Amino acid sequence: MKGVILAGGTGSRLYPLTKVTNKHLLPVYDKPMIYYPLQTLVSAGIKDIMIVSGRGHAGHFLELLGSGSELGVHFTFEIQEEAGGIAQALSFAEDFVDGDNVTVVLGDNIFQDNIKEDVSAFSSGAKIFLKEVTDAQRFGVAELEGTKVIGIEEKPKNPKSNLAVTGLYIYDCEVFDAIKNLRPSGRGELEITDVNNYYINKDVMTYKVLDGFWSDAGTFESLFRASELVRKLLEKMAEK
Ligand code: DAU
Repeated sequence: MKGVILAGGTGSRLYPLTKVTNKHLLPVYDKPMIYYPLQTLVSAGIKDIMIVSGRGHAGHFLELLGSGSELGVHFTFEIQEEAGGIAQALSFAEDFVDGDNVTVVLGDNIFQDNIKEDVSAFSSGAKIFLKEVTDAQRFGVAELEGTKVIGIEEKPKNPKSNLAVTGLYIYDCEVFDAIKNLRPSGRGELEITDVNNYYINKDVMTYKVLDGFWSDAGTFESLFRASELVRKLLEKMAEK
């Protein structure tokens, strides 16, 4: 299993914070944002990790993360020249993944759950991780029928459930063929939701609803909330 952190995009929603550094290096309570998705991969036992970043302040990633040896992992870096979408960013990892399976995490997503067992048990197809939310219109939203996901809508005005599709995905290497057949969405991006619907239509999509907290951190409000959640979690751990 390879790991990919997608840390491209422009960070425009966090301007002017993102004027002098990359969005994924901003603090979430006591750590740079990217440490959290990185920890999600490392604690799942993944050692070979590619970081796809945008051009803006890309050198800061190298300065912060180095080779990965401190964490006992190995980093490969790739640049996404323009914010062409999450699926486009993932397409740059094809040679790196080299026919293996891949766990993908968005650089602004913070998870409490450990997905080690999901990673070990994965063999083929795709797996997504859902979380109950109160503001589903902000996310990809899953529609379930019985025990199956039958479709995902990206930022729907009238969500069919309160289950957000979080920015954590496991795919087999067919994901790269799926991306090659995508067309840009209305917002001009290759959408990860279209990739997930490709697997749903092939009837090879599985899912899990997460227990622990989850937050993105790409807006002022969610960045602030993510810091609060992390602080609360650390306080709880200190009490024990
Ligand atoms: O946070 C989960 C949500 O992330 C999902 O529920 C949605 O289905 C998914 O489309 C995505 O929605 P957002 O619109 O919030 O994604 P955003 O454009 O904020 O990008 C999130 C991260 O993805 C960003 O921190 C880095 C990476 N990214 C994004 C774009 C547009 C890239 O690496 N390259 C890109 O071109």
